[in-house]
Amino acid sequence: MSRLDSFIRRMLAQRACLNWAAEAVADIAGPVLELGLGNGRTYDHLREILPERDIYVFEREIRAHALSLPPERYLILGDIADTLISAVSLLPAKAALAHVDLGTSDAGAYEALALRIGWLLKPLMKPDGIIVSNVCLRVSELISLDTPSGVKPGRYYIYRVSAAR
Ligand SMILES: C[S@@+](CC[C@H](N)C(=O)[O-])C[C@H]1O[C@@H](n2cnc3c(N)ncnc32)[C@H](O)[C@@H]1O
Repeated sequence: MSRLDSFIRRMLAQRACLNWAAEAVADIAGPVLELGLGNGRTYDHLREILPERDIYVFEREIRAHALSLPPERYLILGDIADTLISAVSLLPAKAALAHVDLGTSDAGAYEALALRIGWLLKPLMKPDGIIVSNVCLRVSELISLDTPSGVKPGRYYIYRVSAAR
């Protein structure tokens, strides 16, 4: 498969999972967390499909398109290894939905970070909240769900946060 085809499939999977998740959290109150603003494409999509939700964005370096910049009060700048911890006391409410899209050019470093993301994210989430991720999160309290039809398993990941304490 060409890199272009692979990129297109990844974007289609990302959109399908975000659209599915937006419906899945319809009855769960709470903000949305976007981990990795990047160019701002998925942030822009989230605010379009969930216009009534507050969206908090975690990013260490702002490089987004000018039209996809979150308002300053919703931007949490710094390394998520630190900011997800401080966010526990900063966020006004636990989140209904989180999207993890933190890829870096260093695949090894991302794999190492991925081992921690689930644990850092879980305390910020509502019970039954949904996490959509471009990386597998290995946390027992996160229940792995099937991805929407058309999304190849392993291309994107969806989890429901266990309601059990
Ligand atoms: C693939 S891009 C995100 C793309 C974005 N979702 C979009 O649709 O345009 C990944 C982003 O994650 C950010 N990032 C990677 N590791 C991070 C970390 N440890 N803490 C905070 N941000 C991080 C990078 O700076 C980069 O902007």
